[in-house]
Amino acid sequence: MAGLALGRAPGLLAALLSATAAGTLFMEPGPLLVPAGGDQALVLALFLLVTITTALAFDALFGAFEDLERRAVLLREGEARFRALVESAPKKMWVNRPDGSGDIYNAAWRDFTGQGDDHQGRAWIEAIHPDDRTIVVSAREAGIRERRAYNVEVRLRAGDGRYRRHRAQVAPLLRDGAIESWVGIATDIEDLRSAVERLREGEERLRLATEHAEVGFWDVDLVQDRLIWPPRVKAMFGISAEAEVSMADFYAGLHPDDREATTAAFLRACDPEMRGLYDVEYRTVGKEDGVVRWVAAKGRGLFDEAGQCRRVVGIAIDISPRKADEQRLREYADELETLVDAVPAAIWIARDPEARRVDGNRVARDLLRVPSPANMSKTSPDARDAVRHFRILEPDGAEIPPRDLPVQRAARGVQVRDFEETVVFEDGGAVHLIGNAVPLLSSEGRPRGSIAAFVDITALKQAESGLQAANETLERRVDERTAELREANARLARETAERLRAEADLHQVQKMETIGQLTGGVAHDFNNLLTPIMGSLDIIRRRVTLDQRTDRLLGGAMEAAERAKTLVARLLAFARRQTLETRPVDMGQLVDGMRDLIARSLGPQIALAVGIPGALPPAKVDPSQIELAILNLCVNARDAMPEGGSLRISAREELVAEGSRTDLAPGDYVVLSVADTGTGMDATTLQRAVEPFFTTKPRGRGTGLGLSMVHGLAAQSSGALLLDSQPGQGTRAEVWLPAAQEAAAGRRSEDVEAIPAPFEAKVLLVDDEDLVRLGTAEMLRDLGYVVAEANGGAAALELLRGGLAPDLLVSDYLMPGMNGADLATAVRHLRPSLPVLLITGYAQLADGAADDLPRLTKPFRQSDLAHRVADLLSPEAHGMTPGSSRSPDLGAP
Ligand SMILES: Nc1ncnc2c1ncn2[C@@H]1O[C@H](COP(=O)(O)OP(=O)(O)OP(=O)(O)O)[C@@H](O)[C@H]1O
Ligand SMILES: [Mg+2]
Repeated sequence: MAGLALGRAPGLLAALLSATAAGTLFMEPGPLLVPAGGDQALVLALFLLVTITTALAFDALFGAFEDLERRAVLLREGEARFRALVESAPKKMWVNRPDGSGDIYNAAWRDFTGQGDDHQGRAWIEAIHPDDRTIVVSAREAGIRERRAYNVEVRLRAGDGRYRRHRAQVAPLLRDGAIESWVGIATDIEDLRSAVERLREGEERLRLATEHAEVGFWDVDLVQDRLIWPPRVKAMFGISAEAEVSMADFYAGLHPDDREATTAAFLRACDPEMRGLYDVEYRTVGKEDGVVRWVAAKGRGLFDEAGQCRRVVGIAIDISPRKADEQRLREYADELETLVDAVPAAIWIARDPEARRVDGNRVARDLLRVPSPANMSKTSPDARDAVRHFRILEPDGAEIPPRDLPVQRAARGVQVRDFEETVVFEDGGAVHLIGNAVPLLSSEGRPRGSIAAFVDITALKQAESGLQAANETLERRVDERTAELREANARLARETAERLRAEADLHQVQKMETIGQLTGGVAHDFNNLLTPIMGSLDIIRRRVTLDQRTDRLLGGAMEAAERAKTLVARLLAFARRQTLETRPVDMGQLVDGMRDLIARSLGPQIALAVGIPGALPPAKVDPSQIELAILNLCVNARDAMPEGGSLRISAREELVAEGSRTDLAPGDYVVLSVADTGTGMDATTLQRAVEPFFTTKPRGRGTGLGLSMVHGLAAQSSGALLLDSQPGQGTRAEVWLPAAQEAAAGRRSEDVEAIPAPFEAKVLLVDDEDLVRLGTAEMLRDLGYVVAEANGGAAALELLRGGLAPDLLVSDYLMPGMNGADLATAVRHLRPSLPVLLITGYAQLADGAADDLPRLTKPFRQSDLAHRVADLLSPEAHGMTPGSSRSPDLGAP
């Protein structure tokens, strides 16, 4: 500024004034737009200060310039002052020349832009925002063109790089009509601009808000008793827009229920003492349409200096939709609450993410035994009292930590589905629950609580476990029953098998019995036939002298009759009807006596072994019959060993105990065993072997009566025959005989020769069968006896009563009417000393009264009869008292 001429001073002042005027002009809208406020006041004050200060400064300067004109000497001093003034001006100021020389930028400029002293020349253009430079350049060009001041709004860069808006006022300094320099002042209008913008935004927002909220402004002029209602407020009272309104409309439009309270509030707002805020919600009844609306109104009384309320102004909003919404919301909440209490499920609601407050519905409280509404949170210390009396367990029995309960987990944002838990109370009671818990989310999607709904499945669980128990019981029952049935079945099978065996045994026994009876009958008839045949043949042989051929024929007939007699004897043995002469028999002695005979019958190919202990008790059996039986068994063994082998005869003692499962009576037994190493028998053969006439031998070789006889003898002797055989394994036959208590009697030698009558004794012969009687009578007469005959008991007694005095009575046993035994009894009364001989064909005679009577078994030979009769007529026998107990054995041959 060193080169600035003093002559330019008035121009500079004019430029300053011009710039100041431009600022004033620019600032003019400020007070109009901006209500008295901090920023605006500051700006205004600043502006005034600057203007006044500047004006004062330039005034002084002006004086100085005048003085300079007058006093050139003072000019230099004045320039220095100007420079100092510019330098110290509070606004950013600069002076520059079109040629760019001697530019000045004051302290305010440098402070703001951070430019140094050295930063002269085009410093100003560098501080301008690049986007604003063209505006500045064109404004400057217009200023140059028209040689006038110009204003421009630019953004200037501060030292920190930020831009602030400024109003730049630039005025030319003219000299002789040409621009010598430009003087500029920049005013920071950033805050002002921002305030204006904020105000505009505020205004706009208010406008939008009132429009959108449908706010109506109202004004009650109490002094003039005038009511100003915009159409919007009129509509709130059901009044059309163009209608005139007064305070009466206000009072009349209030809903009767709200009139009192609303009026009171309005009076309070007008009352100078109270000056209350008028803040009410009331219903209106439409004046023209009768519609009930909800209105919210706010207002305030305006009072004059005297304290008199002159006006009440405020706003009113139609809140009918909001009220309707509120009502609906209330109803909805009511419904929800009712629903929550009505559902048969336990419902819990937590309203914070920690679920520190948990409310339960009625079902939840009932289930958990919480008597009244209370905080049911297990995680909240102050809720513990209400929930202390129960624990919540997992189905496996582990206690669930409070933090992990469904309500708590869901409150933290976890979806819990189909969760099963058991609530166990202090008294031991328990309930089983199943349900879901879902998170409640805030509008930002963050968990803010939870809702859990659970149902009681205790009954279901109990039913389930009951069912399971029932199933187990059922299964156990079925198992038990199955076992019982299996056992019963096995028992039944055993019993059936036993019964079948018993039946088979019975069947066999019955069969044998039947066969025995048949056989017995047939054998008896045969015997009756054989007796006269044999007797007659005997007599013929004795009496008649025969030629050789006839004698041979007769011998043949005798032999056949003998064979027939043997057969009949076997049959009778099987039928257990043979006459047995049972007595104690030493089996060792007996077998010893047969040894040669047996060995002869076996032949040389078969080795015989005999092993009978000496200490064996005697057996009770007929010795000659048991001999026959042994012989039969030996012959069977021989026939089973055609290639040879060995035969062992042994005996042992056995005790059959009481209750043992055999057909034998309990007691001591002698068991005679005949064992061979022969072919053995298959099951069928073994089964039938004992049957009479069952034989596997070729026709004519076997009669099939051998084992039948042995069986019959054993059975009749109160013993049994046991056969044990397997094909290829040989056969063992055992004859069980009761052991005798007394010692064995010696064997009598048999004399079979006929003995002639010792004296001419008289014999009374009784038989109903003529042929038999004749034969027997012939035999007796042949022996030299005198024979009287009777054909029955009655006839015999008749003879005796008629004076017949026989020496001996010989009677058949089996007769029609009176049998032999009865006759003997009857005779004893008439003739006590008369000996009696019974001729029998039946073993049955052994029973009963006739036991002690001497007897002769049919068929008999003459010699047999001779011995018997002679015995009975012998002096010793004769001397005995008839009827005394005399063993029949003593009378046996
Ligand atoms: N020791 C044995 N070994 C093999 N089979 C036997 C034996 N004993 C008997 N049997 C069988 O039993 C059947 C009946 O025997 P049983 O003695 O009753 O009559 P038999 O021997 O055939 O005729 P008989 O005795 O008149 O000669 C025999 O035919 C034979 O098949
Ligand atoms: Mg035989």
